[in-house]
Amino acid sequence: MNILAIESSCDETAVAIVKDGREVLTDCIASQVELHRIYGGVVPEIASRKHIEAIYGLADQALERTGLTRQDIDAVAVTYAPGLIGAVLVGVNFAKAAALAMNKPLIPVHHIRGHIAANYIAYPDLQPPFLCLVVSGGHTMIVHVKDYTDMEILGGTLDDAAGECFDKVARVLGMPYPGGAALDKAASTGDETKYDLPRSKPGENPYNMSFSGLKTAALNLIHHAEQVGEELDTPSLCASFSAAVSDTLVPRVVRALQETGLRKIAVAGGVAANSRIRRDIMSAAQTLGAEVYMPPLSLCGDNAAMIGAQAYYEYQAGNTADMSLNAYATKSILGEII
Ligand code: KG4
Ligand code: ZN
Repeated sequence: MNILAIESSCDETAVAIVKDGREVLTDCIASQVELHRIYGGVVPEIASRKHIEAIYGLADQALERTGLTRQDIDAVAVTYAPGLIGAVLVGVNFAKAAALAMNKPLIPVHHIRGHIAANYIAYPDLQPPFLCLVVSGGHTMIVHVKDYTDMEILGGTLDDAAGECFDKVARVLGMPYPGGAALDKAASTGDETKYDLPRSKPGENPYNMSFSGLKTAALNLIHHAEQVGEELDTPSLCASFSAAVSDTLVPRVVRALQETGLRKIAVAGGVAANSRIRRDIMSAAQTLGAEVYMPPLSLCGDNAAMIGAQAYYEYQAGNTADMSLNAYATKSILGEII
């Protein structure tokens, strides 16, 4: 089954064609990152306009690159939530028009379910159940993926997402948007023991966590150094910060593996590209004897291939939509699709 998949929830316009949920025939991406960089973050209006400009050309490009025709496409899938509402609407309207014109089923896909499904592409043999650490720009949670469309959120952040904190600290350090990757790179030459930053303490739900205290502590440290004219050791601050984020996430993942008895751990989302987090997940899994699934960096960030992968399973579960499909800025990964 060839699925034409559309992703436009943030600052990447992407169109992919994915076969049977696992094989990416093509994945075309038009990134807007450079455009938003001068503003230090995504400007929603600009994002929507650029999606409109790019989406038709990308869909044509996807067909051209694969040599497929419209008749070879069996369904159209689209990220319908969550994201910047104007941006998501562009993809949803394009997908509705394409499905209507081609008389093919329309499959709505939750963006975070898509991130999780990036693992199905990277690991064709991976099947649920497994545990997934989802860490993106807007989401941080530990998910028990019971089946392809049946999930349970064990816990997550009570305030900021990990990606938001990486970006905010990187921005204050003068790194270009989105700063997570730059901060990660800078951390590689730093001493992570140099700055003492707080780790979120376990609360009532041992899988929940908080990042706002860590973010504030890092920002205060930077501002204080500026005020007193003290020179910051930026690589070491980046290393200390990355260590604090990972030390908040990974012990909760370990606990979840132990308590659920699951023996497969996957990671998903842009922050899953972080080298410290990847290293710590890898060694924790080795200690526990669990199998690790880490998509390559290109599949961690936003892309349409992951949407096409999840769409295959949504379709099998009967989760299709009609022309009344709407876009949603927020929506849980659980429960009813629409
Ligand atoms: O999943 P994603 O591409 O978009 C959302 O759905 O939010 O995640 C983007 C986030 C940004 O906050 C970006 O700074 C962060 O992922 N990120 C990283 C790294 N690469 C991307 N954060 C830490 N370390 C990285 N290597
Ligand atoms: Zn994303």
